[in-house]
Formats: sequence, structure tokens, C-alpha cells
Amino acid sequence: MTVFAFTNQKGGCSKSTTSVHFAYWLSRKGNTVCLVDSDAQLSSSIWIKSLSDTAVDVSILQSADEVIDQLPDINDKYDYIVVDGPAGLSEVTRAILFRADVSVIPCQPTGVDLRSAADAVKLVRQAQSVRNGPPAAALFLSRAVKGTKLKDEAITLLSKSNVPILKTVIHQKQCVADTFGQRATVWDLSGKSASESAKEFDQLFQELMEIK
Ligand SMILES: Nc1ncnc2c1ncn2[C@@H]1O[C@H](COP(=O)(O)OP(=O)(O)OP(=O)(O)O)[C@@H](O)[C@H]1O
Ligand SMILES: [Mg+2]
Repeated sequence: MTVFAFTNQKGGCSKSTTSVHFAYWLSRKGNTVCLVDSDAQLSSSIWIKSLSDTAVDVSILQSADEVIDQLPDINDKYDYIVVDGPAGLSEVTRAILFRADVSVIPCQPTGVDLRSAADAVKLVRQAQSVRNGPPAAALFLSRAVKGTKLKDEAITLLSKSNVPILKTVIHQKQCVADTFGQRATVWDLSGKSASESAKEFDQLFQELMEIK
């Protein structure tokens, strides 16, 4: 009954990776979950179906009309909906923001991505204005490289936006990039690096549950 949406028109910021991990995480906690894939590449729906031990259902809603018309019916049937938003298509993103309870904006700490985070925030603020409040929203830094100045600068810059920034930072790690190909999530992989990433995702998702 709660719709979380990962939105940012900027490509490659980790919407699909985070959506799949969050849907899996919620399901493992005993919730009924549907992952709604609104990205034409269909990567998140293919990925979640490839996991051997998941009870997450999948729905593919690719147009703005489908999102507006069908998301409420799907929402009635599950504890949580996780929407993987598309790159580029702001019309579909707008439709998602008109139906979501919580909008989460992943942002890479690079100059280009930080600039387009402002556009992603603008769409959220417009939806909040039209809907007179919702969706709740938060930004988080994804694919950050440890120890770089850019990461600190990004935190400073994003802190000034109208949307709160989550404390958890998801760092760039090869094990995360490997998960799709391995038909896995970070919780399934062994090694120190995977367990560090798993801890980051756990923390991020706990923060998300507090803002719903
Ligand atoms: N923390 C991470 N560390 C390393 N690689 C990552 C991380 N998060 C995502 N990636 C990789 O970055 C690429 C983009 O991630 P993803 O597909 O999740 O982004 P997206 O926002 O859904 O992209 P698009 O806008 O194209 O749909 C993928 O190759 C993914 O494996
Ligand atoms: Mg994607």
C-alpha cells in the first residue's frame, strides 16, 4: 500500500540497481511486493525474475497512461510497490510522481549528474505542488568513489536543494556492477566488498522506511 519510486531522468545513476535491491529487501522481510518496471530497457524486471529465491511480482507499465491508470489497482494488492523509473522520459516520470507516495532520487557525484539532479528535483516539486503535499522525497548519493573531493562537494551542493539528502552513501564497487550478470543481489555474493555493499543497502533502505 506504499509506492516507492526511484526517479531521475539522468541515465545510469542506479535506479534499476536500487529498485531491484529494495524490492528484494522488502520481500525478504515478509512483505508482499511488486516491482513496476517503467524503463523500456526492462533490466529490472529481467533481473528480479532471474533471482532464484524471490517472491517479488513484476508489472511492466511503460507509458504515462499505463502508470496513471493501472498503478492504483496494483497498489491495492501489495504491501509495497517499487517503481523503477525510466531514463530520459520526463512524461513517464511525471506520471510516476503523480502516483508515488515516496520519490527517491539517486544521484551520482559528478558535475553533469549534479546538474541534472536539479531537473529531477524540479519534477518532484511540481508534483508536490499539484498534489498539495505528496510525494515525500529524498535524494541519495549513488556510485560514489570513496575518498574523493567530488563526493564531499556533492553532499554540500545537494544539501542546499529543496529535497532532503539521505545519510547513507552507496559507493561504487565492482561487486554491485556484477550482480545483474550473476543473477544475484549483493546479499547473495561472498567477500568483504559485497558485505560492505550489503550493509550500505541495508542502511539506505532502513532510512527509506523512516520517510514513508
Ligand atoms: N554502486 C555501484 N557500484 C558499481 N556499479 C554500479 C553501482 N550501482 C550501479 N552500478 C552500475 O551502473 C550502471 C547503471 O546502473 P543502473 O542500470 O542501475 O542505472 P539506471 O539509473 O537504472 O540507468 P538507466 O537510466 O539507463 O535506466 C550499471 O552497469 C550498474 O551495474
Ligand atoms: Mg534503469
